[in-house]
Amino acid sequence: MIVVLNFGSQFAHLIARRVRDLGVKAEILPFDTPAKHILTFKPAGIIFSGGPASVLEKRSPRPARGVFHLGIPILGICYGEQVMAEMLGGKVSAGLRREFGKEMLVIGRKGELFNGLGKNEVVWFSHGDQVVKIPKGFVRFASTHDCSNAAIADKTLNFYGIQFHPEVTHTKNGTKILSNFLFNICHAKKDWRVADLKKNLIGVFKNHIGSDHVLVGISGGVDSLVAATVLHKAIGSQLHAVFVDTGLLRENEARDAALSLRAQGFQNLRVMPAEAVFLRRLRGVQNPEQKRKIIGHTFIKIFERVAKREFRRYPIKYFAQGTIYPDRIESAEPSRHASKIKSHHNLTLPEKLDFEIIEPLRDLYKDEVRRLGLLMNLPKNLLWRHPFPGPGLAVRIVGEVTRERLKILREADAIYLQELQRANEYDKIWQAFAVLLPLKTVGVMGDARTYEYIVSLRAVDSIDGMSADWHKMPQDLLERISSRIVREVRGVNRVLYDITQKPPATIEYE
Ligand code: XMP
Repeated sequence: MIVVLNFGSQFAHLIARRVRDLGVKAEILPFDTPAKHILTFKPAGIIFSGGPASVLEKRSPRPARGVFHLGIPILGICYGEQVMAEMLGGKVSAGLRREFGKEMLVIGRKGELFNGLGKNEVVWFSHGDQVVKIPKGFVRFASTHDCSNAAIADKTLNFYGIQFHPEVTHTKNGTKILSNFLFNICHAKKDWRVADLKKNLIGVFKNHIGSDHVLVGISGGVDSLVAATVLHKAIGSQLHAVFVDTGLLRENEARDAALSLRAQGFQNLRVMPAEAVFLRRLRGVQNPEQKRKIIGHTFIKIFERVAKREFRRYPIKYFAQGTIYPDRIESAEPSRHASKIKSHHNLTLPEKLDFEIIEPLRDLYKDEVRRLGLLMNLPKNLLWRHPFPGPGLAVRIVGEVTRERLKILREADAIYLQELQRANEYDKIWQAFAVLLPLKTVGVMGDARTYEYIVSLRAVDSIDGMSADWHKMPQDLLERISSRIVREVRGVNRVLYDITQKPPATIEYE
């Protein structure tokens, strides 16, 4: 496996994902993880991520010095190169011209790292500082116009530093560079395969759980569905799944999730229809934070009630959650919703119930979760769904949530998503959904004047939801969606397309 030391890069997860896609397990650890602890992972190599800090600042993040004495190859990326160079006796200073974006790398010597690359390569830069004096024992082997030490190495120690980011797609041959590091330099084994994972996970949980019973909460989302399916394959009818249908889900969402679980042979699935309770508690509530709170509390209360009933009937020892790797490993970038997303994921369960938490997907990325789901024959359309927030459609209806408004939004959203699928646009988008603005404007239909609500269409491109750009949607597709919504959804006479980036806007409306 490979350890990625995270110096605060927004790309740390991307590095780990690229490594895993190449067939090698990667774990992200904090930048100052003690060398001894790193050794316990038995890594074949260590990658220092980039980061926003400057080694020229006091108290900028440093790795433990012992990391350089482990005899393990290191690849320093961007800030990672600079911090390595500085700690090993080189010098870093603020670049004359700050390089951000695409640059042409001129490769002097290829060596193991640049094996198979051309003489000139497009690479992506994102830092103001650069290494101006390389440490003793190092050689320079590639430069750009304004950065002479764009790639340096000590081939005896197997320490490599590159000023650019191989993990982003703008670096055309970035994956080749990472692959060279993994296989030519670290001699890592290609043994991280989702098919093996499936077998292992099922085996591990079968042994671990034995004859005990497990409770799992299903949300309609990908993670809980796949987690439940893994466990079901491991322990069959000892698994008890509870699905609280809040009434705030998309069209057919609860039905589809339940159908696919039953198709997997799930016997103990309790679907709790709770729309009426949620709507009653949300009546008259306009404030977004209050809406979220009410939904969270109500959800937990209902879940608790059903769970207690299950606990009385079966000797339940474990509670399973669909937590995935990025949920556990905090990204360096603070997210406005991070704590809220957490509190929704990690259900606070009945205090008096004695159970242990199990998280079958705790080491996996979303892509891996999806591939695992495919291997277990879950339907592709459920696995590749866009992210959906815990509070559901309630944060996509501005102001009060009512049954009528939910119906309108659900219909408009279904048309939107259906047209995106038909046009093969859905998979190009990170997240797309309709929003109801319950604000009436005047329209004309036939000979009559209308006075109806507005639907806003949101579609964003993003890596992780922390920042996002609006999706450049084909105009004819937008036109088709807009006319279908106005024609088919009663209560809507105007459709808008949202062209705001995050930041400053958030992806959701509340
Ligand atoms: P925002 O609206 O903050 O959303 O730009 C970023 C991403 O997070 C999702 N999101 C949530 N997910 N519970 C969740 O599970 C929530 O309360 C929540 N709020 C936002 C949102 O859909 C987007 O993918």
